[in-house]
Amino acid sequence: MEKQVKSKQRVADHGEVFTAEREVNAMLDLVKQETERINSRFLEPACGDGNFLSEILRRKLAVVKRSYGKSPADYERYAVMAVMSIYGVELLQDNADACRARLFDIWDKEYTANCKKEANDACRDAVRFVLSRNILCGNALSLMCVDENTNDTDTPIIFSEWEFVSETMVKRRDYRLDVLLKENPEPDQYSAQLSLFGDDAMAQDNWMIDPVTNEVRPKPVQEFPATSYRRIAQDA
Ligand SMILES: C[S@@+](CC[C@H](N)C(=O)[O-])C[C@H]1O[C@@H](n2cnc3c(N)ncnc32)[C@H](O)[C@@H]1O
Repeated sequence: MEKQVKSKQRVADHGEVFTAEREVNAMLDLVKQETERINSRFLEPACGDGNFLSEILRRKLAVVKRSYGKSPADYERYAVMAVMSIYGVELLQDNADACRARLFDIWDKEYTANCKKEANDACRDAVRFVLSRNILCGNALSLMCVDENTNDTDTPIIFSEWEFVSETMVKRRDYRLDVLLKENPEPDQYSAQLSLFGDDAMAQDNWMIDPVTNEVRPKPVQEFPATSYRRIAQDA
């Protein structure tokens, strides 16, 4: 069994006690259907080295194998989709690094076994890139990043949404986590804010009216042109 405590100091400083596998599975079983939906999104705000996220990835990849195991091209695409749906924030850099590495190892082992000769490094690099964007070192209370070198915390946590817009093309949109977690203003309230305070940076920078639904929704801080999923790292 994995150790649940690394040191008394880390428990005292950061409340670092890892959850045992049995409890992880019992808790995930409470939302079993979601853990088995390939693209259902999970965000763990204090993910440690990934006890929950790795089990979620295993469950999703088992579904990918059952549904698409006979076609390496389909398996690859859906396995990439599975990893794109998993997000984590962790305060301590060593845990965040370990979590990313663990998720990659689980993913790569399954990918290599299922796609065999068709498994390729372009796809592996794409998955490493996704994990570098999805598992972030940050403070889940202040919603700010923690910089590995400077310990700086004045950059908001920004997560990427990955949307398959065709079989192979993926659109990336980046959002501030603090905005995603705020309640969206009502359309009337939002329009009033904009007309009363035409330069209301908070309203203008963070929300937009959805042209299709006419509802107010978070505005991406950056959008990238759709690109083949194997090239998302190069085209970023
Ligand atoms: C109780 S452990 C749980 C880890 C993991 N979720 C698990 O169940 O195995 C809490 C984790 O939260 C991290 N942590 C503590 N304060 C945090 C904060 N403000 N933001 C993000 N992570 C934090 C700790 O470093 C530790 O890894």
